[in-house]
Amino acid sequence: MTVTAGGGAPARPVEGAGDRGGARGRVQALALGEEEVVFLDQTKLPAAVEYVRAVSVEDVARAIETMVVRGAPAIGIAGAFGLALYAARSDAATPEDFLRGFEDAARRLARTRPTAVNLFWAIERMRVVARETLAGTTAAPGRAWLEEVRRRLRAEALEIAGADERGNRRLSTYGQALLPRKCRVLTHCNAGALATGGYGTALGIIRAAREAGKEVSVLVDETRPLWQGARLTAWELMQEGIPATLITDSMAGWFMSRGEVDVVIFGADRIAANGDVANKIGSYSLAVLARAHGLPCYSAAPLSTVDLDTKTGADIVIEERSPEEVTRPYGLLVAPPGVAAANPAFDVTPARLITAIVTDAGVAWPPYERSLRELAERASGRREGAAFRRG
Ligand code: MRU
Repeated sequence: MTVTAGGGAPARPVEGAGDRGGARGRVQALALGEEEVVFLDQTKLPAAVEYVRAVSVEDVARAIETMVVRGAPAIGIAGAFGLALYAARSDAATPEDFLRGFEDAARRLARTRPTAVNLFWAIERMRVVARETLAGTTAAPGRAWLEEVRRRLRAEALEIAGADERGNRRLSTYGQALLPRKCRVLTHCNAGALATGGYGTALGIIRAAREAGKEVSVLVDETRPLWQGARLTAWELMQEGIPATLITDSMAGWFMSRGEVDVVIFGADRIAANGDVANKIGSYSLAVLARAHGLPCYSAAPLSTVDLDTKTGADIVIEERSPEEVTRPYGLLVAPPGVAAANPAFDVTPARLITAIVTDAGVAWPPYERSLRELAERASGRREGAAFRRG
């Protein structure tokens, strides 16, 4: 994995978003080159804008693990780009060899982070394409099959990325309609362009509301322990001149009690069939506080984040990360050496605390068992966001 000079675009043209990244100066988290995946290094933001080049599946896996790329939809896209990269660099002599290597690559990528279901969803979509393309080609002469499977995997990966951005724009239109003409939104973590194929989910709704002429300002939870709110959401909002005030996570209740919050919106890493929402640690506390203050609490996520195979939040695997991220974040010692520290990366907000779930296929209202399934069925009929398989 190599790092390129900060401050500029990747040196060579890369695909992955068409003109998505450049639109009105908006950021693009990752892009697919011919034989590389380029990531905007989110561990370096906001201090530096640096790009990291991944030239192997292992590089892509490490970029996900170390959170160079993060956010559920972006992790899914990274998984798909990683498999397209495997294909681009494969020198397999036979389709069987190719598929063996493909499965190894898929397993490696699937081991990176367990909670965001988008990763497993995207890997499964790529797996279906690989298998269908190569079915019955064992005896094919020459290596035309390799060119074909490369081409189709690349197209699928780019479609996953492109569809995510298009979906976010739809989601954001549905979501902004829920906001009053003037409001203060409290958001947590980063569910913006950096976390997705573009435009964002929770931040997308804020963008769309502003584009619709609404007067929206944002309270940004810093989001301990890795400060995705302070480092990434504040940065994205400032890039676009959206009024934002950074607060520590522990200030949320105080601001609500003073009537300075109108609505809470956060993203999701996995939404169970009953509407329980796994999202960045701290989301559950916000939902409890919102309920106590009579405020609406929305979760915004594409249907690729909805996991109908997982019945309730109790079945969602919550990633445990290194205690060092709590005791020594970014190298700064903030606790006595040797102290025990817990670091669950996500929590689960029970469905009863979620006012509505805003998806790319429409808004789901309680009871979620029914509304999520209906939206999923409607969307699979329309093709975009059609797969709901788990890896
Ligand atoms: O650990 P992270 O930074 O990957 O966690 C990200 C979140 O919790 C986001 O809110 C979620 O993935 C939605 S991103 C559109």
